[in-house]
Amino acid sequence: MNPQEPFDSYAEVYEERFNRNPLGRYQRERVHAEITPYLRPGARLLDAGCGPGSDFDFYQSRGLKIDALDSSPRMVELAREKAAGLKLEARIFHVALEFYRPDTLYDLILLNFGVINVFANLPEILQKVNAMLAPGGVLALVSMPPFHFFTLLGWAGQLRLRTAARRLFLKKGILASGFRFFYYRKRDFREHFRLLKKINLCPLLPNPEQFRNYAWARSASKLLLPLDRRIAAGAPDWLGGDHVCYILAKSGS
Ligand SMILES: C[S@@+](CC[C@H](N)C(=O)[O-])C[C@H]1O[C@@H](n2cnc3c(N)ncnc32)[C@H](O)[C@@H]1O
Repeated sequence: MNPQEPFDSYAEVYEERFNRNPLGRYQRERVHAEITPYLRPGARLLDAGCGPGSDFDFYQSRGLKIDALDSSPRMVELAREKAAGLKLEARIFHVALEFYRPDTLYDLILLNFGVINVFANLPEILQKVNAMLAPGGVLALVSMPPFHFFTLLGWAGQLRLRTAARRLFLKKGILASGFRFFYYRKRDFREHFRLLKKINLCPLLPNPEQFRNYAWARSASKLLLPLDRRIAAGAPDWLGGDHVCYILAKSGS
């Protein structure tokens, strides 16, 4: 099947379901806080798998040289509309990351919120991204890990035990459409990069969809948010989260 298909259909609801969701916003704000130190004026940034331009407001007025790309035509359309609305200067390419041939090296490459999880061939993609970084460059990636307590609990409650076991033990997921994705952990990123920082996002909180759908998830979030916020930067990798943010330096730099 065409891998961009699920993202084309997801494009229309993505802003509302994730970007405007309080737990989605909470996660994104944490990522923004972590990457801010690398966004000095003039820095060259690649937003790979930019979606509908989820981070474009954040880039505004920072004096960055922005390139963005996405493999989904609808996501690219929305990203271009958003950039135009914000008057954000950015080159936005409709291309899959694996086929992208940049004409520059980047100071920061961002693979935000699950882009990395679509790749089965992780070492090849990491090698490619590493080669696109300037000396001293940094990769910020936000990955879905195998373990997220509330997601697995939710699946167990719905008797989706195979889905839960596939995520936890095989580190794989599959949508009803047949689209496959892959859950990654810290050790998977070690080969080409040096870990600078790791932030577990929502390890103690429900996922944004649970927050949207269930009163219990909203109550649990209210109760646990202060604790989640406090432990995010020091939590062990196995504790996972809805996502985990890794800040990685090109190895050898
Ligand atoms: C979950 S969305 C994340 C979007 C955005 N980075 C964010 O933070 O909201 C994943 C995005 O990756 C894009 N994508 C999937 N496979 C890709 C590939 N091979 N190359 C580039 N983009 C890809 C999808 O079209 C989608 O827009």
